[in-house]
Amino acid sequence: MEKLLENQVALVTGASSGIGYGVARSLAEAGAAVVLNYHSHAEAAEKLADEIVQGGGAALAVQADVSDPAQVEHLFDACRERFETVDIVIANSGVQKDAAFADMTLEDWQTVLATNLTGQFLSAQAAVKEFRRRGPRAISKALGKIICMSSVHEVIPWAGHVNYAASKGGIQMFMKSLAQEVAPERIRVNSIAPGAIRTPINKDAWDTETALKKLLQLIPYGRVGEAEDIGKAAVWLASDESDYVVGTTLFVDGGMTLYPGFADNG
Ligand code: NAI
Ligand code: BGC
Repeated sequence: MEKLLENQVALVTGASSGIGYGVARSLAEAGAAVVLNYHSHAEAAEKLADEIVQGGGAALAVQADVSDPAQVEHLFDACRERFETVDIVIANSGVQKDAAFADMTLEDWQTVLATNLTGQFLSAQAAVKEFRRRGPRAISKALGKIICMSSVHEVIPWAGHVNYAASKGGIQMFMKSLAQEVAPERIRVNSIAPGAIRTPINKDAWDTETALKKLLQLIPYGRVGEAEDIGKAAVWLASDESDYVVGTTLFVDGGMTLYPGFADNG
């Protein structure tokens, strides 16, 4: 059976857990060679890389802090050294540092912006430079694909999380402006905006019965999402199946952005 991402090289940032881990696995299943960036938890990234290789694929785990320009440069050097280039970049790394507004420290504000927004800027900038350097390849209609991991909180305000919501709101215009700038070169830039996905970042929201019941009130489709749901969307968005999709945010959220509070006559 033809694999959608055969002969392509994908870089996934923050691939040692949660959504990044699931996306990396899905891309590998679709035939891509995968570079798994991790910040902490080297074991998890190494283990996934081993699994992919054992399954007949190609993978490499590389440590880098995406908020540090020199480390992002090192990450792309590692892609070039091992796989000669990169075709797909999934800028996924992200953190939450939640606090009531008046208690939020400047450090918590800056850490979230540095990882979630500056990290995507640095990753996407290195990607654009690499796509231009190596020129077109016969394996895809696009010169390269960038997928920003946004969130439903690029549009849903989130009290107690102003740093996080500001970072995701920022990604919305970052992605669209970049997509507009590089589309003429056939670089496709899009976002995925997940709803509540079962990962370590939001464990408090789903790991007790009470919390889960409350969370499910926000999800019309009636279940919490899994990393695999995002993995499948990422494969499609990275493949030529979505070749005419440019500058779009794909919401994968079980209907969380449908204002579920209005379902019963408002
Ligand atoms: P997670 O906590 O499991 O994964 C976050 C990943 O980012 C980890 O691998 C972590 O090591 C990495 N990371 C953190 N700081 C980093 C840095 N400075 N450099 C490189 N990597 C770094 O959480 P999850 O849920 O998998 O989050 C992944 C992305 O998905 C984030 O951008 C998050 O905002 C987004 N997201 C998650 C949702 C959810 O419900 N789980 C919903 C919407 C968006
Ligand atoms: C957050 C999660 C939250 C989800 C839905 C994500 O962006 O990281 O903590 O569960 O949005 O609110």
